[in-house]
Amino acid sequence: MKILITGGLGYIGSHVTVLLLQKGYEVVSVDNLDNSSIDVLEGIEAITGKRPFFEALDVRDENQMTNLFDKHPNIDGVIHFAAYKAVGESVEKPLEYYENNVSGLVQVLKPVTRKAIPFIFSSSCTVYGQADKMPIDEDIPLKKAFSPYGNTKQIGEQIIADCCKAYQGFNAILLRYFNPIGAHSSAKIGEFPQGIPQNLIPFLTQTVIGKRETLKIFGSDYNTPDGTCIRDYIHVMDLAQAHIESLDYLIKSNNSEACEVYNVGTGKGVSVMEIVQTFEKVTGEKVHFEISKPRTGDVITAFADPKKINNRIGWKAQYSLEDSLMSAWNWEKQLKIL
Ligand code: NAD
Ligand code: UD1
Repeated sequence: MKILITGGLGYIGSHVTVLLLQKGYEVVSVDNLDNSSIDVLEGIEAITGKRPFFEALDVRDENQMTNLFDKHPNIDGVIHFAAYKAVGESVEKPLEYYENNVSGLVQVLKPVTRKAIPFIFSSSCTVYGQADKMPIDEDIPLKKAFSPYGNTKQIGEQIIADCCKAYQGFNAILLRYFNPIGAHSSAKIGEFPQGIPQNLIPFLTQTVIGKRETLKIFGSDYNTPDGTCIRDYIHVMDLAQAHIESLDYLIKSNNSEACEVYNVGTGKGVSVMEIVQTFEKVTGEKVHFEISKPRTGDVITAFADPKKINNRIGWKAQYSLEDSLMSAWNWEKQLKIL
């Protein structure tokens, strides 16, 4: 089976590519290298002994997309990762986010809906905003998004749902990821944050390795057991596996709902302070941190109810938080060597 991955050299796309190649799928990968490096192909090959068919292109370019589908007329599934993902940046550059995340999606959907190819979309738990109850299930009504980035995910979901209604035979799955962390166990692929990391785990590992001075913990007076925010951290390899199982399910199922939405999380809420403590325990390293003021726009608590994906698709997170943090640390250590 041949699968097209957009944004295939990015953090999540590269881990999905590895699993697909290891399971015998053929992979066509496209990426404009805006937030990734061509060297990721070396990492993928070092792990799998194979290379995906790769083309450096921008998914917003209709001609290039048409040529790609002409070159590969028998694509069995598409996983769409290509997008911008920095929440803070999206507030400063909303048009760039709407252009890339929304127009890019529309361009990809043109050939995909024409050929009714099963489609997986990278959505985010950000679509829930601060949910009124925990854990968060897929039926909770969506609130107003906190950022242009969040808007692009809500709009993207809506566009795909509309396409599923409009184009007969076109089915899709929307995966709402909670907080992906960690790296492949080989430490040959992982996350490359550009500039100063905004997310907790890369900031933490960069602090411990000495690239940053102090990890700031954003807020310690929240209404949570230890006062720090709570999230559902999921190992990127578990997330990768969720894509493959969702795609298999979509390809095999005679899907009556046409557009299905699934949370991808562990179901466990973990506080920022617990992250620091667990990291110290598994790595034996000391995390230099200080308590800082809350970050504007942060939700206090967000963790998934993953029952729907567990029961319908049969996927369940396998890796522990310890595995995730150790793999993130191993990845950071080899980056220093590079
Ligand atoms: P990433 O930035 O590492 O990967 C995205 C890849 O897409 C990059 O390699 C980038 O160069 C490429 N790209 C961007 N715009 C493109 C375009 N127009 N044409 C071709 N390639 C393009 O991000 P990621 O963490 O792997 O995230 C993948 C997807 O998952 C994104 O849609 C993101 O919004 C979503 N998501 C990520 C997280 C997270 O925490 N990482 C959480 C929820 C959802
Ligand atoms: C954010 C986005 C989410 C996006 C995800 C991945 C918001 C509201 N949500 O998730 O949409 O999908 O990034 O890009 O912005 N923290 C610290 N110190 C730090 C960094 C983070 O204490 O230096 C805390 C945060 O307050 C939060 C937790 O760590 O409680 C996780 O933060 P982060 O990794 O940025 O992810 P989210 O905010 O959950």
